[in-house]
Amino acid sequence: MSVGQNVLRQEGREKLTGEAKYVDDITYPGMLYGKTIRSTVAHALIKYINFDPMFDWSRVVIADYRDIPGRNVVVLIEDDQPLLAESKVKHVEEPILLLAAEDREVLEEAAQHIQIEYEPLPAVFSMDDALARKQLLFKQDNIFKRICITKGDVLRGLSKSDRIIEGTYRVGPQEQLYIEPQGMIAIPGEDGAMIIEGSTQCPHYVHRAVKHILDLPDEKVIVRQTVTGGGFGGKEEYPDMLAGHAAVLARKTGRPVKMVYDRVEDLSATTKRHPARIHHRTGVTRDGRLMSMLIDIVMDGGAYCTLSPVVLSRGAIHAAGPYNCDNLRIEAKVVATNHPPYGAFRGFGVPQVCFAIEQHMDQIAESLGMDPLTLRQINMLRQGDRTATGQRLHYSVGSDQVLHAAVARANYHQLVRRYSRQTGTKRRGVGLSFFYHGAGFTGSGELNMRSGAAVELRVDGTASIYTGTTEIGQGTRTIFCQIVAEELGLPYERVFIENPDTSRVPDSGPTVASRTCMIIGGVLQRCASELKQKLVATAAEAIGVSVEAIKIENEHVLCIDAPVMTLADAVTTYVERYGPLRVFQRYDPPPGMQWDEREYRGDAYAAYAFGADVAEVEVDLETFEVKVLRVISAADVGRAIHPILAEGQIEGGTLQAVGYAVMEEVVMQQGRMINNRLTNYLIPTAVDAPEIHAILVESPYPFGPFGAKGIGELPMDGGAPAIASAIYQATGLRVTELPITPERLHQAACQAAGQRPNQEFK
Ligand code: MOS
Repeated sequence: MSVGQNVLRQEGREKLTGEAKYVDDITYPGMLYGKTIRSTVAHALIKYINFDPMFDWSRVVIADYRDIPGRNVVVLIEDDQPLLAESKVKHVEEPILLLAAEDREVLEEAAQHIQIEYEPLPAVFSMDDALARKQLLFKQDNIFKRICITKGDVLRGLSKSDRIIEGTYRVGPQEQLYIEPQGMIAIPGEDGAMIIEGSTQCPHYVHRAVKHILDLPDEKVIVRQTVTGGGFGGKEEYPDMLAGHAAVLARKTGRPVKMVYDRVEDLSATTKRHPARIHHRTGVTRDGRLMSMLIDIVMDGGAYCTLSPVVLSRGAIHAAGPYNCDNLRIEAKVVATNHPPYGAFRGFGVPQVCFAIEQHMDQIAESLGMDPLTLRQINMLRQGDRTATGQRLHYSVGSDQVLHAAVARANYHQLVRRYSRQTGTKRRGVGLSFFYHGAGFTGSGELNMRSGAAVELRVDGTASIYTGTTEIGQGTRTIFCQIVAEELGLPYERVFIENPDTSRVPDSGPTVASRTCMIIGGVLQRCASELKQKLVATAAEAIGVSVEAIKIENEHVLCIDAPVMTLADAVTTYVERYGPLRVFQRYDPPPGMQWDEREYRGDAYAAYAFGADVAEVEVDLETFEVKVLRVISAADVGRAIHPILAEGQIEGGTLQAVGYAVMEEVVMQQGRMINNRLTNYLIPTAVDAPEIHAILVESPYPFGPFGAKGIGELPMDGGAPAIASAIYQATGLRVTELPITPERLHQAACQAAGQRPNQEFK
């Protein structure tokens, strides 16, 4: 038995002992280092580039867009983002030139001797200016993507409502802050081939990007993932750009080139979570039923499209929360500005909309004089109900269970009573949130991709897994081995997993979207199951009995319950007759799934994970500092393949949500992140970490591996609104913008008291 057990992590020992090789630990003979010269302005024409003649340029190789053998574009969705700027820059930190040299000091020196002259263009930094087309940055309207979801008749719904509640909610950007910064090495291979090694969630994305940049056929680009120190979405699409840069330099110099960002460059130049503004207008009955929901979402996509359309899509679909409402209209847009492009980050559009709907539900409850918990219980999606896109939830709906589990463990009602009678300068409060997260790609995404994976049984009785899905700290390698071991009846120790190398493993799609366990884990289980059938058939044939008489147990083939040969012998028999015992499978969506991409209607996800958080905070009314004391987080994961890893996902996601709620503020000035260091971009450390209690709820998903669905992103969604509610209960101050810094809370206090905020304090 291996599924459900807390087995040792596959790569745990290497990481603990320091043997694990991250990209910056790797060197090659003759290797050069690369550096990016970036725009210092947000929007401008490049007039002139001056290379100081006093500097010894013989030590440096310089590349610009003319050195790109293929297309000057980072291919993704719109293909609007150049790998290197040609005549125009659209954001601060946009790459313009690449340098390569023997050592990093020379690069820094060289960079000091390059001057770029710009002719400034008016820049757009606000979503409203983008919508007003103050400058045209993308096509005719600055809109990367527009989505509209409708259900029922919102006007009729409003007319049947007793009360209409409105609210606007804002969230800022958030940095992924993986421990290991972005890094790539490009190594020229034989016959014009290029080998890329580096830190990434998605080796096959990098493969596709580099292939277009170098104009090479598939087989001439090989991408290998190195041990990766965290990604959280930040290594979903950005590594394509960095790998492209390293590849251009490697092609020009004919030598391996390593590029690893320092923290400042990583913070300033790479993607972050999309800032957003969400407006809700909701009609409810006196007894708390949601009758009509009008939701308007605007996200800032930054200067290039990157993944913004899919972030918006997930955000729009989740915007109404896990609630029943027959009449709704969700309008969502993501716009172009002159900010560095925003991109993937754990939650992928949902933390933004979840903050909005959950704060809004609290405002509705308050206006009805109802407990926030009761309002959620009245409206929550249960089995058989329909989501915003009209999807009927047939199975694996742990909604009631998670909410009940979190509330019970937290002693929610008792805390509400206790904290409603407080005096003094330190006030405590408790708040809750209820949320869900669709696992896997949205809509037809999984059907179109039909991701593959393979398992091989060897004559020594071990199994090997082949997949492009990556370990980024979350436990992929471990849970995949558990799933295959369980299905084959092998001990966990006898299952191994290949390193992701695009020339050796199938394309399993990107390691994103809470899809790893549910989608690829499911494919692997089916591979293992087919392997077993093949062995049973071979053994039956060899012994001369029917397949019904054969079973595989404890690494043995049993014939009518008596062991007749070892599993290894059965594999040998198969291999001798038919060749390698390897099974490749592709993902198939569950039967009956239907998605209408034009109308945004139907089965948006094969399964949803449900979550409920209860947060307790203490607010200092003199300094307006918020201490998050405790978060209870219940998650319906379908089945926990590895309970400690699943709890780890909940703890880590919750801690990132604490940062999102009260600490992490990206300060942008004229399109530039000015707090681009770890001394001034603050994330929660061990000192700031609340007590986190993870509760695993298992409402099995019938088409997932052993009932499992997605868990990676869910824990990031609900923390911020629960904390905001707790702050409200503690102080009576409702802050509708994240992060809730002491400055914002103070401002809210002044507004509540009818005073202007104390400027000194600001
Ligand atoms: Mo992600 S944010 O789906 O890597």
